[in-house]
Formats: sequence, structure tokens, C-alpha cells
Amino acid sequence: SDRPDIVIVGSGFFGLTIAERCAADLGLKVLVLERRHHLGGNAYSERDPATNVEVHKYGAHLFHTSNERVWEYANRFTTFTDYKHRVFGKYQGQVYSLPMNLGLINQFFGRSHTPDEARALIAEQSSEIATEDASNLEEKAISLIGRPLYEAFIKGYTAKQWQTDPTKLSADIITRLPVRYTFENGWFSDTYEGLPTDGYTAWLQKMADHPNIEVRLETDWFGSDVEAELKGKVPVVYTGPVDEYFGNSEGRLSWRTVDLQESVVETGDFQGTGVVNYNDQDVPYTRIIEFKHFHPEREKTHLPGKSVIVHEYSRFAEEGDEPYYPINTAEDRAKLLKYRDLANQEPMVLFGGRLGTYKYLDMHMAIGSALSMYDNKIRPHFAEGVELK
Ligand code: FDA
Repeated sequence: SDRPDIVIVGSGFFGLTIAERCAADLGLKVLVLERRHHLGGNAYSERDPATNVEVHKYGAHLFHTSNERVWEYANRFTTFTDYKHRVFGKYQGQVYSLPMNLGLINQFFGRSHTPDEARALIAEQSSEIATEDASNLEEKAISLIGRPLYEAFIKGYTAKQWQTDPTKLSADIITRLPVRYTFENGWFSDTYEGLPTDGYTAWLQKMADHPNIEVRLETDWFGSDVEAELKGKVPVVYTGPVDEYFGNSEGRLSWRTVDLQESVVETGDFQGTGVVNYNDQDVPYTRIIEFKHFHPEREKTHLPGKSVIVHEYSRFAEEGDEPYYPINTAEDRAKLLKYRDLANQEPMVLFGGRLGTYKYLDMHMAIGSALSMYDNKIRPHFAEGVELK
């Protein structure tokens, strides 16, 4: 019959990993429903026609992992470039190399420090407040790195990110603020890092490219024929927002979103690097992304004299906005517990991915947790008849 063996709601990395494993490893017939006009979830990218530069349509996506299994799995579908991510930060007319490191300390304090001298300086400046006594984010940050670095590199950026004064934010938003006492300025410190050679969309399409996988775009699970006919009859892996699944019965979970303002500028190089953070509080955006720098090896294919950039503005998500980062207040956590109870009682439905679990997941974490769900729940169900829950 035409009936699928399993339905996946959402075609992001979580959903496609489950779909690929079910089709390739178990030979199941898989139906993926995706309500957007494209597959791939938030990792989706496309070529900008004016510049021929690949643009990550839901914000900059840098792949990095120390998980051997995820790295091996990802390499089945794409190769990776040797791109190594670096971030710079503007503050009061200067550009600094992030994360906070010896180069930044020397530049900021206007003279050279040995690693030991820099350590002593930061220890002295951070002794103003004891970390245990910190009652808000500002105090916590000062207790970790001292007031001068906090005011330059954390205060304005954090206030813009959260639209909230850091003295009104909870101290547990940050656990550590690493300062490197070396000149190392690689943003990530994972074993593997790089960008998919032919872009994210080619990688995501390759995962879905199996005769047993059908992806139905512009199809919302809610109200679909598939929901009407198959709910409760075949296993469903749901990767959309968990609150939406239950009609927001316990209240909405809160998210931050980012407004991405894309434009083409008439210069071959706007900022000399991929990501520049704006730390000054009076600059309304948090970052500018210049996508061509993610793929220097494609330089010859980029159209000359132009570049595509994106200004990012962070704010609280309202109904209808893209949910990007879970805010995770105490209220959110209480609602989430109720949704988890409901989810556990929902027959034949598994909840996964960043929206289905209300957790910020990097791509490698979304893939890793999908592989675990496959191993621990889905494969045992189909291969050994274990009840699905
Ligand atoms: P994802 O959100 O990708 O996919 C869910 C899909 O389900 C969506 O396509 C949605 O349309 C669909 N859907 C929802 N409800 C539905 C319904 N009712 N019916 C049908 N379809 C439905 N990671 C990283 O490793 N490095 C990075 O640099 C970044 N950068 C980054 C920037 C920003 C701004 C964000 C928000 C996120 C990142 N990430 C990241 C994280 C990365 O985006 C994340 O790991 C993956 O998107 C997670 O994949 P999922 O499949 O869980 O969700």
C-alpha cells in the first residue's frame, strides 16, 4: 500500500536524520511533512542572485563538532571546507579579536602583557565581587572578568540581545566567561570544524535523497490529511514547537527571535571577515554577517564589486515570529514540565529537535540526539517490536 511506515513532521537536521536512518538502515517507507516551501529547517541556505554568494537564510550557521559519530555521519552526505570561524567585535571605534584573549587584553588596556601579567590583571579586576555573591548577570560577569572588560564586551551586547538591562537578568544565564591567556582566536575549540563544500542545502537534500523518502513541502501537519488518517496508527516524529502541538494549553513557551535585514552593498568587501559583533549599546544591531567570507575558496564564483550582508536585530518573539533561542525563565521551565507529561502520554508520537524539546541545539547536537532517538526508540520498535515511547 501507499501508507508510510513512519511520518516525520519537520525537515530540519533532526527530522532528516531520523528519515535517512529509517529509510537506509531499516528500509522503511518514510513521509516527511514540511510546512515551509523548502526542506532543511533553519540550516537552509540559498545563492543570492545578485552576488552568487551562499546566504544562510535563518542566520549564520557554522558547523563544528567533537562527536566522532556525528562527524562520520555528516561526511556521508557532504565534504567540508577547512574554514575556521573567527569573530571580531567593535567597541568605541576599535575592532577587537574575540573571544577575549591576550590580543584583546593588550589592545584594550593599551600595552603588552605576558600571559601571567594578564591573568593577574583580570584576577585583580574581578575580585570586586565574589561569584557566589552575584545576584544578577552584571555582577556575575564582573566577578568573572572584571568591570572594564564587562562594560566593553558584555554589557551592551547582552542588553541588546535580551532587550533587558543586565542588572535585571538572572545570574545563571552565564556560567563562565572564558578568557584565553593566549593569542588563539579560533571561535570554536572542537575537534572538527568546516563548512559544507557545496552548501547546506545540497547536504540536506542529499540526506533526503532516498527512494523510500518522500518530502511533502508546504504541508502543515496540523489539519493535514496525514494527521486525519494516520495519527495514532503509525509512529510520528514531531519536530515542531511542543506547545503548539498541544494547542498552547499550558501557555506559550517564550523565545527570542532575530530580525535579519539582508542587503547587497556596492563593494567587493564590506568588513574583511564573516562576523563582526557590535558591542556599543547605541548601535541597534548586534552583528553584521558578510557571507562571502565563509567561502574564500569560492572567490572566483562570486560576482565582483558587490557583497551581501545581513544586519541582525535581536528581540522577544511574538506570535508568528520565528522562534530562535529558548528564553527558559522559571515559568517556561514549569510549562515545559507539563508539556513533557503530555508528550509522554501522546500515543505513537515522539518529540524531538530544538522546537520539540524547547532546547537550543547546535546542528551537531540535533544530529546526535536524532541518532540516539533512532538507536534507543525507533530501531528497537521496528526491528524488535518494542513498544514506542
Ligand atoms: P529546525 O528548526 O531546523 O527544523 C524544524 C522544521 O520543522 C522546520 O523546517 C519547520 O518549518 C518544521 N515544522 C515545524 N512545525 C511543523 C508543522 N506543524 N508541520 C510541518 N512542519 C513543521 N547550529 C550550529 O551548529 N552552528 C551555528 O552556527 C548555528 N547558528 C544558528 C543561528 C541561529 C540564528 C539559530 C536560530 C540556530 C543556529 N544553529 C546553529 C542551530 C541550528 O539551526 C539547529 O541545530 C537546527 O536547526 C536544529 O534542527 P531541528 O531539526 O531540530 O529544527
